Amino acid sequence: MGQPIPARSDHHGDDHRDDDWWRSAVIHQVYVRSFADGDGDGTGDLAGVREKLPYLAELGVDALWFSPWYLSPMKDGGYDVADYRTVDPAFGTLAEAEKLIAEARRLGIRTIIDIVPNHVSDQHAWFRAALAGGPERDLFHFRPGRGEHGELPPNNWTSEFGGPAWTRVTEPDGIPGDWYLHLFAPEQPDLDWAHPAVRQEHEDILRFWFERGVAGVRVDSAALPAKDPLLPDLVEGRGPHPYVDRDELHDVYRAWRAVADEYGAVFVGEVWLPDAERFARYLRPDELHTAFNFSFMTCPWDAARLRTSIDETLAEHAPVGAPATWVLCNHDVTRTVTRYGRADTGFDFAAKAFGTPTDLALGTRRARAAALLSLALPGTVYLYQGEELGLPEVEVAREHIQDPMHARSGGTDPGRDGCRVPLPWAAKEPYAGFGSRNTPWLPQPDGWAMYAVDRQQDDPGSLLTLYRRAIRLRPAFGTGPLTWLPAPEGVLAFERADGLRCLVNLADTPVDLPGHTGILLASGPFDTGNRLPKDTAVWLRTRPARFSAPEESPS
Ligand code: GLC
Repeated sequence: MGQPIPARSDHHGDDHRDDDWWRSAVIHQVYVRSFADGDGDGTGDLAGVREKLPYLAELGVDALWFSPWYLSPMKDGGYDVADYRTVDPAFGTLAEAEKLIAEARRLGIRTIIDIVPNHVSDQHAWFRAALAGGPERDLFHFRPGRGEHGELPPNNWTSEFGGPAWTRVTEPDGIPGDWYLHLFAPEQPDLDWAHPAVRQEHEDILRFWFERGVAGVRVDSAALPAKDPLLPDLVEGRGPHPYVDRDELHDVYRAWRAVADEYGAVFVGEVWLPDAERFARYLRPDELHTAFNFSFMTCPWDAARLRTSIDETLAEHAPVGAPATWVLCNHDVTRTVTRYGRADTGFDFAAKAFGTPTDLALGTRRARAAALLSLALPGTVYLYQGEELGLPEVEVAREHIQDPMHARSGGTDPGRDGCRVPLPWAAKEPYAGFGSRNTPWLPQPDGWAMYAVDRQQDDPGSLLTLYRRAIRLRPAFGTGPLTWLPAPEGVLAFERADGLRCLVNLADTPVDLPGHTGILLASGPFDTGNRLPKDTAVWLRTRPARFSAPEESPS
């Protein structure tokens, strides 16, 4: 290890067309609130991101996906949008967002923003007008309650955050009145996508941001916005679901695609669906370009299950010609080093609990191997901020938790703040260099400084160095298919372009390396017999090198 990292001009392979950047990109997710605090007020902001653009360029990522940065009361970390055309003052200004988009682009980094079509904030102008009794009520789902005095919710739907999906309003005359639907928190009323004004407004919002140079949009809760107009009770297993994956949605996304095509912009959908064929419908050539791969993200650390997940992913994307995406973590789920260090290495929202025993050394070893695995697969890779530092999930003290999932679970669910703790940049600075003058919006735990960027950047053995090297080398794998190779049980072995191979050992014993002409990168040291140890991955070259890339012998 320790050789210089090649310059960014190596970044794309020969066959990589610029228009197709999104087919093989590495995309870094920025949760602005926790990224870097430029003005010192305790909350991350766009000034902080602008300062750190050189870091992101050096990491080698192709694009940044920003969780929502718009005006918001922050009842759900910005996923409660009050105005899409204003940047929240805690984050900065619209002018600053425009500068950030342009500055990033000059460094070769594109910007993806987050749009949340299912709902808005209860402070959005439309909802305030609706509560005041205006015609805007038709833009939401208001219904009379059931029961003698309308005291029961209109149907049996439950909120994704726990509790009923309905809240009763007090009418302007002071009398309890209709109920409104919210699949998430009560402060996130659902929009009625059957209303043409809702569709028009979102197309206008897309244009507003595409005009400002945005290259892509992440579509939040993309399978939820359309509802059965009769809002019937949910009876599992009977007929089409009243609000998940409704056919009407595809028309919406076709219209969005037409807008995006005018600007050459792309979409990534947050589509959680168990049915592969239904999932792939969102990726038809005139709909969304890509969607997150939650099957891979929630898959346990098990060779057979991972291989099945990879095969199914590739098989479901092939018929629609969409590239796969590979995701290990995001702002909603348990950090990778923690997840892989637990008895249950999969992810399930329902299984989250306080006090789960975790072996971080084990989890980190596996996370290093998983980084090489995902970066060797064909398609796009999403990298959530801090994953490249190996940050663990933090068990945030109850009194500091802000995520509504915690309160709405009655305090049993630790919520999602554990993966949203402000990033450590400089070990010796206050708040690990996050930039705040006082305690940041979520406190950092003891020992956080040990993960700081300045501790890792020159350390050849750090996870940050591994990510930087892997991202630089990744284009060598090309954009062609993956071929599985025979391998001992518990070992994943596949070949990509030019005889480049990735091997991941998930078995209990070390394995011999197959014949090779060079070792590009390994996630950890080999054993004394020069074999690949358990929970370790390696990138091998099996033919003479066609171009000069830094090769190394793992130490
Ligand atoms: C998505 C977001 C999550 C948010 C929810 C409601 O799942 O990723 O953070 O709470 O949508 O908008």
